[in-house]
Amino acid sequence: MSDSRPDYQRIIEQIHQELLLHKNYGEVADYIPELANIDSEQFGVFLHTVDGNNYHTGDWQTPFSIQSIVKVLLLSLAYTKLGGRLWQRVGVEPSGTPFNAMGTLEHDDGIPRNPFSNAGALVVCDVLMDTYEDPRAALLALLRSASGDDTIDFDPVVAASEKAEGHRNLALVNFLKSLGNIHNDVEAVLDLYLDSCSVAVNCEQLARSFMFFANHGQTLDGGVQLLNRSQAKRLNAIMLTCGFYDEAGDFAYKVGLPGKSGVGGGIVAVLPNHFSLAVWSPRLNEKGNSYRGLRFLEQFTTVTGESIF
Ligand code: DON
Repeated sequence: MSDSRPDYQRIIEQIHQELLLHKNYGEVADYIPELANIDSEQFGVFLHTVDGNNYHTGDWQTPFSIQSIVKVLLLSLAYTKLGGRLWQRVGVEPSGTPFNAMGTLEHDDGIPRNPFSNAGALVVCDVLMDTYEDPRAALLALLRSASGDDTIDFDPVVAASEKAEGHRNLALVNFLKSLGNIHNDVEAVLDLYLDSCSVAVNCEQLARSFMFFANHGQTLDGGVQLLNRSQAKRLNAIMLTCGFYDEAGDFAYKVGLPGKSGVGGGIVAVLPNHFSLAVWSPRLNEKGNSYRGLRFLEQFTTVTGESIF
């Protein structure tokens, strides 16, 4: 390691220890019954640098549910097929509303403000059904190629658990259909979306899966160009502005990295040319973002001085 590089291992361990000294706030996502059973005190970090070094602490090997983080990968699949035409179906503006909001859709003629709201991701899933013969296989292929790990897979128990209680998403997909922005069968679109959210990853798999966003669209291992430079730039911009719903501004202000959260308690953030960083802690704040995950990332970019700003 060069002398100018922060001592990442010491830093992540130190922040981890500091977090343990303070009360852990928030609740696990019990609206998905299977996620309610999780040990809420778990905490893991995996940092993967573009020069191929790895640093980790805590429960970094424990699998958790990727949930909304998968929306970035679904978007990548749709964007590589449609390019800018995709923006006729979904916008790229921050919504300032919760992830499952319905409120703006009627006013916006069924065009979701951005692809990371549930409505936006449902439209992206509809696009994938029209552009891929097997969208599930395409998603797994992307995750596996990006991470170099062929064991990543869906978790049918989590998917079934969310399907049983997915009234809000069912309402959203029907509402979008009534407004003309879903072309396929609503149940099939919802199924693809919920299967995608169920993917199980640990912190290492998540950090590795997102390395291509830190590396101008190219995987580190094998140099596969999953997005071109311009596409990677644009998707990082959407992560920065929309990755945390009505907390996106706060995340940019406190952390200063493109990133994406999920109600499984995971957050992944990237610093282009430098690293991909995954953190997992299941207790969520009232915006649906991991409480300790956010605190960790704020401390990390503050102590290292490494952010996009
Ligand atoms: O659709 C849902 O409600 C979940 N499958 C995903 C939501 C989510 O992860 C929001 N992120 N913080």
